[in-house]
Amino acid sequence: MKQETKTIYDKGAEKYEEVMRRYWHVPKKPFIESLDFKPGDKILSAVVGTGLDLPHFPQGTYVTGIDASKEMLNQARKKHSKAWIELKEMDLHSLNFPDNYFDAAILTFTLCVLKDPVKAIQEIVRVTKPNSKIAILDYCKSRNPETEKWQELFNYHAENIGFPKDIIAWDSLMDYDNLIYDSGLPLEIKSDFRIESENPFSTACQIILINKK
Ligand SMILES: C[S@@+](CC[C@H](N)C(=O)[O-])C[C@H]1O[C@@H](n2cnc3c(N)ncnc32)[C@H](O)[C@@H]1O
Repeated sequence: MKQETKTIYDKGAEKYEEVMRRYWHVPKKPFIESLDFKPGDKILSAVVGTGLDLPHFPQGTYVTGIDASKEMLNQARKKHSKAWIELKEMDLHSLNFPDNYFDAAILTFTLCVLKDPVKAIQEIVRVTKPNSKIAILDYCKSRNPETEKWQELFNYHAENIGFPKDIIAWDSLMDYDNLIYDSGLPLEIKSDFRIESENPFSTACQIILINKK
């Protein structure tokens, strides 16, 4: 991750949750609970941000949250969770974990801000065990042509609303058909649920993949 990108997240860490609540609110609790994590599971939270997911992991699970921003991690340290939590500063494009280390991985609002989402998924496939669950909750391109038009407009103006394209690769037109289905990565699609909304910022997807490496 570029130093300028880290600085942007470091500076925005304190206000991050307020902004998310106001503009990009997609509930996470039901999704995380539906993943049916079991005590003893080692779960990678990639990336953890300010730790909004942490309260929803069940007791007895071991959650390792990584993020490239120190200040986002400092906010995450304030969160309570019934799970065992470990937080590490790390770039998702190059994870410092051995192969087959985790039982599962969860990515919430992650892929849409990465420079190279395919590389990140490759890394997650490497560090998770065969047949493990990889769960994605993220923004995505709407299947409603009217909403998609708005998303195209926002994407075009991303720079003006604070997402300088060369620093933060925010993509409201995240296309999972292209990213996952046509990627050639060893992934099986267990479920793919799209949340349509007239708010172009709240069009989301919940995708559960199985690592078939
Ligand atoms: C939109 S937030 C999502 C955080 C959290 N999962 C949530 O749902 O609130 C994006 C996060 O990605 C982190 N990030 C961006 N690029 C990264 C990278 N290459 N490696 C690790 N973290 C990165 C930022 O620091 C920020 O905390």
